[in-house]
Amino acid sequence: MSTVDEKKIPTPHIEAGAGEIAETILLPGDPLRAKFIAEKFLADPKCFNEKRGMLGFTGEYRGKRISVMGTGMGCPSMGIYSYELINFYGCRNLIRVGTAGAMREDVHVRDLVFAMGSCTDSAYLTQFRLPGQFAPTADYTLLRTAVDAAEKRGANYHVGNVYCSDVFYGAAKPEIGVQWKDMGVLAVEMESAALYANAAYGGARALALMTISDSLVTGEATTAEEREKTFVEMMEVALETAAAVTD
Ligand code: HPA
Repeated sequence: MSTVDEKKIPTPHIEAGAGEIAETILLPGDPLRAKFIAEKFLADPKCFNEKRGMLGFTGEYRGKRISVMGTGMGCPSMGIYSYELINFYGCRNLIRVGTAGAMREDVHVRDLVFAMGSCTDSAYLTQFRLPGQFAPTADYTLLRTAVDAAEKRGANYHVGNVYCSDVFYGAAKPEIGVQWKDMGVLAVEMESAALYANAAYGGARALALMTISDSLVTGEATTAEEREKTFVEMMEVALETAAAVTD
């Protein structure tokens, strides 16, 4: 468990000054999505990062200070941003909002998936040199709060394991999907394991919630209009959770 080191800011990848990033941060993969979230949902948003185009903003939601920033795709990129946010900027609640591909017939496009656990083929976790396999898991308080919010909204949702893959196209190979599906895995995405491991190592709380954008099982995919609608539902769940866990 590390302590926050503000002497390291600005960091090689984030140009924000001390205190410019809130303790609770939403993390979409796409920086333009971060901009959209800030402009649509946050009051008085201020941009704190433009480095590498990885836009980040801080504003208010229901009177609570909340930030939102892109992470890029995959564990290495999520690993860099979440590490700096936790260890140098003092972020305590990190909530990934993304998309995932369904790996089971009972998981449909537009459904919400909460990653209670994250299986991975990523080499990211080897850096911790553990004498066994680490099980990356969501923070229970964030998970429970978010699931309650989804339940209240009557959303279609699933809570369970996801498969955090290092490869987008390789992950779509049917035989790989079948092996993970046999272990009950709900969906595939690419960032949750690095986020959960960094949160564990830095003593922070993390949750990855995703909307299902496509299905590896049925080939179903969402239209742009559907993605927009389910995205708003996910954002409302994420923001309600963020506000509830922020002082
Ligand atoms: N693979 C990995 N990540 C994803 C996918 C996928 O098929 N769909 C949405 N995110």
